[in-house]
Amino acid sequence: MTKLDRQTKGPSDLEHYLKDIEALEGVFVDWDETQLGAIKAYRKSIEALHKEAIRRLISVVKAEPAALSALKNAVTDDVVYAVLRHLELVKPSLHERVEEALESVRPMLASHGGDVELITIKPPHTAEVRFLGSCDGCPASMLTFVAGVKKAIEDHCPEITDIRQVKGLTKGLDQSDSSGVQFVSPFAINQKGDWLKTVDLHDIPEGEILTMEVDGSDVILSRNGSIVSCFANACAHLGMPMDMGDVDDGIITCPHHGFQYDLKSGECLTAPEVQLQPHAIRVIRNKVEVRLAR
Ligand code: FES
Repeated sequence: MTKLDRQTKGPSDLEHYLKDIEALEGVFVDWDETQLGAIKAYRKSIEALHKEAIRRLISVVKAEPAALSALKNAVTDDVVYAVLRHLELVKPSLHERVEEALESVRPMLASHGGDVELITIKPPHTAEVRFLGSCDGCPASMLTFVAGVKKAIEDHCPEITDIRQVKGLTKGLDQSDSSGVQFVSPFAINQKGDWLKTVDLHDIPEGEILTMEVDGSDVILSRNGSIVSCFANACAHLGMPMDMGDVDDGIITCPHHGFQYDLKSGECLTAPEVQLQPHAIRVIRNKVEVRLAR
């Protein structure tokens, strides 16, 4: 890359460089195995050369105490860090490794309508995480925490020995931001699809449910202040509609065989291994929008 290229793109425009690389990789997509093997070997040998050159450069610089701090500073540059990480010349940061650990357990949590987020790392050995969705407040969440999330973090980051579960709502919940968003359900994090307009926030009776059809799906909406939850109108027992069920203190009882569910999380209080199917919700300027889980 020429000096002019660098100046045109800007020294820290990592995304720009990555897009260039991705575009070139698109050229190789239809190549046969032999051609792909050749290009991979070519790339590998160039990377090996760069890695060795940079490794030697770093070892010389590290020998100079004054230069060492400049080196550490240079590694905070996103392009420098990305290249050194790619060449395995720097280890993943603690933050990255904790995120990797959480990523490894997300499929398990998502299968129960939940998620987990990293709140903070307090060096040298403490990480705080928060469960979202059905995991939050669920009686089994501590078990899930101990069995899954904690072990994953300990496996990825042995230096983290104190893993704390933070209770409460996710950041920004229940308060309007500059775009008017008052609430986004935790289920929205990993779901894709369009947000579909439904009703005004206050059309959902506080402490009751509102049933309606959204894009061909029957759903139940319930509200606690500006916190709204939405579930498929289908009991997890035999899939029968729940809309004639009694609601009392945030608990709905299926009118058919009496299964009970927490309307905040969808957790089944009768058979803990099942739950209502959650749909993502957001509230913008008192308008409720749903993103259906398909
Ligand atoms: S269908 Fe709801 S309890 Fe059986």
